[in-house]
Amino acid sequence: MRQGQLPHAPRRVRVLWLPPMNETASGLLSRIESKSAIIGIVGLGYVGLPLTRAILDAGFKAIGYDIDQSKIDAIRAGKPYIHHLGQEFFDRLKSEGSFEGTTDPAALARADAILLCVPTPLGTHKEPDLSYVLGSTRLVAKTLRKGQLIVLESTTYPGTTRDEMGPILDATGLKRNKDYFLAYSPEREDPGSAGRSAAVIPKLVGGTDEVSGRIAHALYSRIVASAHLVSTAEVAESAKLLENIFRCVNIAMVNELKMVFDRMDIDIWEVIAAASTKPFGFMPFYPGPGLGGHCIPIDPFYLTWKAKEVGLPTRFIELAGEINANMPHWVVDKVQAALNDHGKAMKGADILVLGVAYKKNIDDGRETPAAEIIEFLIERGARVAYHDPHIPRFPRMRNHDIVLQSEPLTHERLAAADAVVIVTDHDAVDYAAVVRHARLVVDTRNAVRAAGVGVPAPHPAGAGPRVVGA
Ligand SMILES: NC(=O)c1ccc[n+]([C@@H]2O[C@H](COP(=O)([O-])OP(=O)(O)OC[C@H]3O[C@@H](n4cnc5c(N)ncnc54)[C@H](O)[C@@H]3O)[C@@H](O)[C@H]2O)c1
Repeated sequence: MRQGQLPHAPRRVRVLWLPPMNETASGLLSRIESKSAIIGIVGLGYVGLPLTRAILDAGFKAIGYDIDQSKIDAIRAGKPYIHHLGQEFFDRLKSEGSFEGTTDPAALARADAILLCVPTPLGTHKEPDLSYVLGSTRLVAKTLRKGQLIVLESTTYPGTTRDEMGPILDATGLKRNKDYFLAYSPEREDPGSAGRSAAVIPKLVGGTDEVSGRIAHALYSRIVASAHLVSTAEVAESAKLLENIFRCVNIAMVNELKMVFDRMDIDIWEVIAAASTKPFGFMPFYPGPGLGGHCIPIDPFYLTWKAKEVGLPTRFIELAGEINANMPHWVVDKVQAALNDHGKAMKGADILVLGVAYKKNIDDGRETPAAEIIEFLIERGARVAYHDPHIPRFPRMRNHDIVLQSEPLTHERLAAADAVVIVTDHDAVDYAAVVRHARLVVDTRNAVRAAGVGVPAPHPAGAGPRVVGA
């Protein structure tokens, strides 16, 4: 054993046996290896578009298909609709001969591999809504031909690829894993994080049999820095859920600790920084105003639903969901208490919410906790406005009806507000100016301290602190 190697460290397994491939499979494999394969992307959203960039960067030709005509129009006009991807990328999509954007599903017949990046939301009773996955699979089935590889990228419960998509594609008469190939490879996009493009994030790949797995692995190995082949599509589907449940549960735990330590007058942010000095066995998670985005608040419940099929509860997921869902209430209570300390009632207060995207530096407002915070503030009688440098108009949402537009963040606007509530800590905001001009700042992200802004003394004499954590 080499020095420093753990006795139980997994050994590298050398694959001695490779499944036999028929002519269809080996033909597809060699098109992938030579990069003459055309790659179809279904769904050009937050996942599909960065993936398209990685595919083009790798030297493949790509066809991007979306049902949303406005997205295809924007691509053709070189107009960014996902801003963190940058104007340069949209210029490239417009002019690049190796990319074609279309709303015509018949174009997918020309693709050798088709990657599905469509939404997987929850229904009204937190049940999986597979309508986009099944709808796009039916579209793909219409033009399915011998020698095509179909890969699902959307987050979902184990068994979706094999048991839900498989029968739709099999109904064409083509034989799965012989005539066409079917696999799962979960997206691990980290929107807005510099240096973490789709191309550098390692990917998992699992086939509905060894041949499909191997072909999909060959494709992704050429698109991203590293692709890890697992034994089945179900392992890859479950691994994606584990990744997101891990985040959801740990964020809930730290949110709970925040509320407990707050009552004890202990600063959670200092506690996390202190615990982070431990070089092993600890990984920091940070509290916030509640969960947002298309993944962490939603995906865990895909497993909850599926687990019922085998008669088991998912107690960690349910508890984490409950705690995280309560955070917007807690934030609004903190705002009310802070106003009270300043001799101001919530009813009639002018409240400026700073940041409504679900995380910093992106223009994505899906499932943002800002929606509930704004609604609860309004319910308690406040007048609410918001500023977000990335979201000019409050996004339309299934469960919320908020008609607001981002207001300019002027010194006068800051000074006019009874409270400024930081919900999203975008880097583009000048927190020193916020603290200088606002009468009261309620900070759910530790943004003020993270920006190195000193916390000022209360004013006028006798009022509560001017910056309050929540
Ligand atoms: N956003 C993320 O950071 C992220 C990260 C990892 C995984 N995921 C998963 O990836 C999947 C896609 O998420 P997203 O954020 O890209 O969603 P999105 O809403 O940004 O994009 C989905 C796109 O699919 C299109 N679409 C819907 N039905 C279609 C159909 N039948 N045919 C063609 N196009 C269709 C929509 O018009 C939209 O452009 C979800 O399962 C999500 O859980 C998302």
